Amino acid sequence: MALKIAVLKETAPGETRVSATPETVKKFAALGATVAVESGAGLTASISDADYAAAGAAIGDRAATLAGADIILGIQGADPTGLAGANPGAWIVAGLAPFAERARVDAYAAAGYEALAMEFMPRITRAQSMDILSSQSNLAGYKAVLLAAAEYGRAFPMMMTAAGTVSAAKAFVMGVGVAGLQAIATARRLGAQVSATDVRSATKEQIQSLGAKPIFVESVKGIEGEGSGGYATEMSDEYQKAQAELVSAHIAKQDIVITTALIPGRPAPRLISDAQIATMRAGSVIVDLAAESGGNVEGVVAGETIVKHGVKIIGAKNIAATMAADSSALFARNLFNFLSAFWDKEAGKPVLDAEIGDAIRLTQGGKVVNPRLLG
Ligand code: NAI
Repeated sequence: MALKIAVLKETAPGETRVSATPETVKKFAALGATVAVESGAGLTASISDADYAAAGAAIGDRAATLAGADIILGIQGADPTGLAGANPGAWIVAGLAPFAERARVDAYAAAGYEALAMEFMPRITRAQSMDILSSQSNLAGYKAVLLAAAEYGRAFPMMMTAAGTVSAAKAFVMGVGVAGLQAIATARRLGAQVSATDVRSATKEQIQSLGAKPIFVESVKGIEGEGSGGYATEMSDEYQKAQAELVSAHIAKQDIVITTALIPGRPAPRLISDAQIATMRAGSVIVDLAAESGGNVEGVVAGETIVKHGVKIIGAKNIAATMAADSSALFARNLFNFLSAFWDKEAGKPVLDAEIGDAIRLTQGGKVVNPRLLG
């Protein structure tokens, strides 16, 4: 019997994305799988049931979609108690927030599912096209700048008009990973004067190549900041102090600040204090893309815009969901690229290797098996 892939309608509040598109449905079908899509799953991402049906998917209610499913795709992890009918040992492939949603991971194990967390995808060249963090961060970096521009009571570009000159906004991007690079490029396109900082010294050239100014701690020796797999590590106290001083001087002159700094499996590093916010000009805007991971900015509230010392602080929450058509298309391709890379023609299903399988597998045979969760 052909492998059955189920695409469920997301149930998390505010989640508008969908984990498959007509394009990936067709591609899965070409591999020999059958795809079932829960009715209405794509509506918030501008994909109708008819679009999926035309691509070859079976449309049905949740129970029909789950019945006999071998692989359950998702953007976020589905409620483990609502998956009745799926085959024993079915794979759950989604962004599972393994640390934040530990109880849910335990429940997947207890129910016998094999949960595969896409955010644990290793940062190796062959996995680039499977990386949901990259694909979603790219869009988030872009949108963060648009949110800032919309809240800013001034213009981004310099404008010379008959009524006088409007000066260009100064934008500062803190954390130059995938989101930060896109934020720099977007702020530049809108006409801002852009500067940026990171703890990984490799980003300096990338900042310059986008036409922005690097702001880096040069005085502390032995700093590289690059941990395993291209991720940042936590910095020494000495470095953090030097960074805080440098940033204090710089931030007081900025109109827009976008923060994106994350350290995997740890709370986001605190980059901006309340005292630093107080030095900024009234009407300035800070967008904290790390708000859901604890925040880079003191006092930030995920999902809310607050005003402190006259500065607007936007606590970004699931920003990718505000661009559901594009973010779904990229996420769905990440999932397809992953499963198809491991497709075993004879078995008619994906068979994972150890390098990627062991990195992303959270549960198997009734147990939690991932070393990052076992500590
Ligand atoms: P991330 O989302 O984990 O962190 C964002 C940025 O914050 C990083 O650049 C990090 O260095 C920076 N940061 C952390 N602590 C900081 C602090 N205290 N002050 C200032 N900045 C701080 O990182 P992201 O965006 O996911 O990517 C990091 C790198 O990994 C990039 O170079 C990217 O190209 C690479 N990458 C490689 C992939 C692959 O080869 N498959 C997939 C995804 C990313």
